[in-house]
Amino acid sequence: MTTKVPWSDGRLCYGGDWNPEQWPPEVWREDVALMRAAGVNLVTVGVFAWSRLEPEPGRHTFDWLDRVLDLLHANGIRAALATPTASPPPWFSLRHPDALPVTADGGRLTHGSRDTYCAAAPAYRDAARSIAEVLAARYAHHPALALWHVHNEYGTTCHCPHTEAAFRRWLTTRYGDLDALNDAWVTSFWSQHYSDWAQVGTPRATQYLANPGQLLDFRRFWSDTLLSAYTEQRDLLRAANPAVQVTTNYVLGDWVPVDHARWAREVDLVAIDHYPSAIGAGAQEQTAFAADLARGWARHAAGRPAPWLLAESAPNQIHTAGRMHTKEPGRMTRHSLAHVARGSAGVMFFQWRAPAGGAERFHSAVVSHAGADTRVFREAADLGAALGRLAGTAPGRVEAGVAIAYDAASGWALRHPGMPRAGLDHPGEAAAAHRALWHAGVTADVVPPGAPLDGCRLLVLPALYLASDATVDWVRRHVHAGGHLLVTWLSGVADEHARVRLGGYPGAYRDLLGVRVEEFHPLADDEHVPLTGGGTGRIWSETVHPAGAETISAYAGGVLDGRPAITRHRIGDAYAWYVSTRPDDGTYRRLLTEAAGLAGVTPTCPGAPEGVEAVRRHDGLLYLLNHTDRPQRVPVTGLDLLTGATADGSLTVPPGGVAVVREEPS
Ligand code: GLA
Repeated sequence: MTTKVPWSDGRLCYGGDWNPEQWPPEVWREDVALMRAAGVNLVTVGVFAWSRLEPEPGRHTFDWLDRVLDLLHANGIRAALATPTASPPPWFSLRHPDALPVTADGGRLTHGSRDTYCAAAPAYRDAARSIAEVLAARYAHHPALALWHVHNEYGTTCHCPHTEAAFRRWLTTRYGDLDALNDAWVTSFWSQHYSDWAQVGTPRATQYLANPGQLLDFRRFWSDTLLSAYTEQRDLLRAANPAVQVTTNYVLGDWVPVDHARWAREVDLVAIDHYPSAIGAGAQEQTAFAADLARGWARHAAGRPAPWLLAESAPNQIHTAGRMHTKEPGRMTRHSLAHVARGSAGVMFFQWRAPAGGAERFHSAVVSHAGADTRVFREAADLGAALGRLAGTAPGRVEAGVAIAYDAASGWALRHPGMPRAGLDHPGEAAAAHRALWHAGVTADVVPPGAPLDGCRLLVLPALYLASDATVDWVRRHVHAGGHLLVTWLSGVADEHARVRLGGYPGAYRDLLGVRVEEFHPLADDEHVPLTGGGTGRIWSETVHPAGAETISAYAGGVLDGRPAITRHRIGDAYAWYVSTRPDDGTYRRLLTEAAGLAGVTPTCPGAPEGVEAVRRHDGLLYLLNHTDRPQRVPVTGLDLLTGATADGSLTVPPGGVAVVREEPS
């Protein structure tokens, strides 16, 4: 990973997905004029253009893309040129029916949407390499080219015979022999012992609960398979011109069979798509979390703070909970700048112009069905101007004293059938810890296990279910170096194969935490247990025996009445906290504020009113995002780069507005 932004002149990237293949050339010219008016400097082209680039096998039609790239270049706009491999043309599927994906219950999908391919099918891989190769040969030195955007949102899955054969090969490499596989998957249970590799398959639909080791390894295998589909394209694009960076856009969610932390080492710039599922206040919490997650991946891969890119976001409406929700004025700008505050090298939208038809005809766009004489276009142009004023600022380095661990595989494993409770959610628990800190005004990093922890004074493990020996070692090194630790329920309960660590939960961290957990008492969705000292616990509770730790809060009522709920274990000058339930938001916020405070971590901008998000960066900038509908006064001294206003002791941030202050000592 090289962690460069696509260019070195200090400008932030600004633009989005542009689909000229959907429009005649006169619209291209209008689009480019509008892009210039909006301050756009980077557009992603060709993502779904395979059938327009290769209408028949081996016959390529590049004239339109030549003209598009030349037009962009003539207008000073750079291209993130995509390889179109997320949507093979109809001829491909007809010719290679064996490359159509098979679902877990054995049904073969047909053409008609996008992503109808199996990433393990040789015909698909050949065709994908071949279209990437011809694009590389033709455009690798085009002056408009700034970045290669491989594929789109890797995340599909398959259970066809090609996949099954590839799974066996992957398992052979991982385990060497069947004894090791049988041991890792605990196949002594339910007569699942394998005596020949030919018996091992993908976890297809089965009669009852599937084997957790098999489920977990299938996800890991598939992440590696998709990764190899990416890296083989990357390598040939790189070979054509090593000066041009290569990346792919991550889609987030624990349904995605991709370990993005592992992938981060293979992309030149971590790039995420972000569409909050929440619509109100929750959207800004989700935005901050996603941005911190991306920054954590980038930093993990680079071994030091590094920029990343918001590759897609919605300029206006999002579709959630069954309908479209329009963003009120200011929200798009504020959320975009929230990503920039937290390290994005720019802001990219999906999409530039709304299509007249097709499946996503009502997805929001900068140029909507109503055209460009709209408040959304005007807001986008204002954002372009604002980003222009931030040129020369250095994305990527954010001051944070807390790190929250996030691990794709733990998220997958908690979803397995047969867990003590349905709905267990590691990403949700990581987000809950992040949200509590966000409301307390404390900036956190979100990092994969093993990431550098320099600067981190408090490490939070939120339902980090899987603990390999390497992960345990990483946690121990942090604690032994004097770092504070806060561990929540179900962390460290299983090893990397999802086998339970015996001797009492949380097996991997018992000694650090000074507790031993004997029994789980999962709670119903609508159940709350009161805690001494105020507040309630949800989702989970358990029988905790202190073994060196002091009780900070106990269960008050029910079968666990009087037993510890939250404990604290002193290790040297630091504390290792154990939280055996999910405290309500207010209680969690107070708890994490105290744990952070004892670790020496204070709010980013003490005195910033509730609802004002503050992010301080190592480049001397303080981003202030006012999520309320009232003007808010913030204690700060310096120059607001967005308005040119100087603040001498305080600055008023308008309702829904943003200030980016170059701070001076007051
Ligand atoms: C993803 C995809 C885009 C589009 C958007 C819609 O991010 O990459 O092609 O489907 O979602 O939100």
